Amino acid sequence: MRVLVVGSGGREHALCWALKTSPLLSRLWCAPGNPGIAELAECVGIGVLDIPALVAFAQEHQVDLVIPGPEAPLVAGITDAMERAGIACFGPSAAAAELEGSKTFTKQVADAAGLPTALWERFDDALSAAEFVRRRGAPIVIKADGLAAGKGVVVAQTEAEALAAIQDFMTDGTLGVAGASVVIEECLVGEEVSFFALCDGTNAIALGAAQDHKRVGDGDVGPNTGGMGAYSPTPAFGPELEQEVMARFIRPTLAEMARRGTPFRGFLFAGLMLTQSGPKLIEYNVRFGDPECQCLMLRMKSDLLAALIAAMDGELAAFDLRWHDRAVVAVTMAAQGYPAKPRKHTVIRGLEAAAAEPGAHVFHAGTEMLDGQLVANGGRVLTICAAAPTIAAARDAAYRAVDKVIWPEGFCRRDIAWRALARADV
Ligand code: AMP
Ligand code: GLY
Repeated sequence: MRVLVVGSGGREHALCWALKTSPLLSRLWCAPGNPGIAELAECVGIGVLDIPALVAFAQEHQVDLVIPGPEAPLVAGITDAMERAGIACFGPSAAAAELEGSKTFTKQVADAAGLPTALWERFDDALSAAEFVRRRGAPIVIKADGLAAGKGVVVAQTEAEALAAIQDFMTDGTLGVAGASVVIEECLVGEEVSFFALCDGTNAIALGAAQDHKRVGDGDVGPNTGGMGAYSPTPAFGPELEQEVMARFIRPTLAEMARRGTPFRGFLFAGLMLTQSGPKLIEYNVRFGDPECQCLMLRMKSDLLAALIAAMDGELAAFDLRWHDRAVVAVTMAAQGYPAKPRKHTVIRGLEAAAAEPGAHVFHAGTEMLDGQLVANGGRVLTICAAAPTIAAARDAAYRAVDKVIWPEGFCRRDIAWRALARADV
């Protein structure tokens, strides 16, 4: 198989790492990739949203399978464009990617499929949105309808905060068209988990759960980020809950998507809140999580490429995945100033020593080679992972590796996996 991965983050580095172990792989490209990915794949200088150029590259190089990592090209129709050109692409069509592209669409699917989710209402004008907030009171959640790169959700603890978000999104238009409509939701309380399923349009198999750390600072404080660290497995989410989520969320969603004529094939990422009355859907994403993917790839024993081929062929009903019986902790290293204004082009050293720590793996995200030196070139720059028999051992090994990285202008959270480690039973 000649495979093209699309993306340049830690997620795509982990996907390339897993694909590289497959005996089915003959050639691997990544567009645009990064210096870490370049050790595994041939990097191609095409951006993730330059779909015509990606299609032309895939045709010219007889690519057998394209695997998009991020949501933006999926929502923009990369799968449809590849398929029109006769190239297989593992990801949802643009129509099915609306599960991530539009909050309203997700809520409509959730209601039609009978999924437990927060009560919601959609508003196209700021006056009625504000009136609704005054009627319902706080806490309340305000979401821009469209894609907003993680900036479109405000969990408002006070009415004033909620009204400010409405003003910001709808009146001032700070998010552009993404904020022209909002979804206002009931505020769910509980522990949040990321759950992943591999879907072939009709059937799905569980990839398991991980827990992310969205806030930038230790103790879950500060602004939201793309994810400062993750761990898997998740003690709060055992095998019974996994079966329940497959039966009550994932399969009904696939059935509803197929009924609408837009079957979902790809990685389906359910953001779930484990509330006192059971799991509830916060949101769907139509791709793998980052850094959750790094954890799950290090736990996967089966051949990822074989699983993706089975999904492309619609044969997941007869497919099974096997997993290593070990825990993985992933620590994001970000550039100082992230998420607002990350410092660029600072030099990173020590990655060989970090990777040499027992159980450790270093995945690159926002890195770049500049004048022969590895430098930071983004917000989230590295994912330092470690696998070990327990979460505590994996956490210790991951931080030992982090401490080998010589990068004074970088930082990480020091408390990844705290929720799991605070439990008595791990
Ligand atoms: P989203 O962009 O939909 O992932 O939302 C970002 C974050 O906001 C989620 O990861 C949750 O932590 C939080 N969130 C979203 N919706 C709700 C809700 N209805 N109740 C409580 N928290 C929420
Ligand atoms: N880590 C959460 C995400 O990938 O959206």
